[in-house]
Amino acid sequence: MIVRVLREKCQGHARCWAQAPDVFVLDDEGYITPGDIAVPEDQERAAWRGAKSCPERALVIDDG
Ligand code: F3S
Repeated sequence: MIVRVLREKCQGHARCWAQAPDVFVLDDEGYITPGDIAVPEDQERAAWRGAKSCPERALVIDDG
């Protein structure tokens, strides 16, 4: 599973990180780090929750 990060939509809500801190990395100002994320299998549930929790829809799940 890949999470595509639409960095320009991120407003720094950090809900993704609250759900899956091992998957979503925020920068010093609290914005998501740009770049697609290849999610390890054991993190998929947390990553899914995190992506769905983003109110800006900045995280798009691509499960192939
Ligand atoms: Fe940004 Fe959404 Fe996470 S606004 S910090 S991608 S919850």
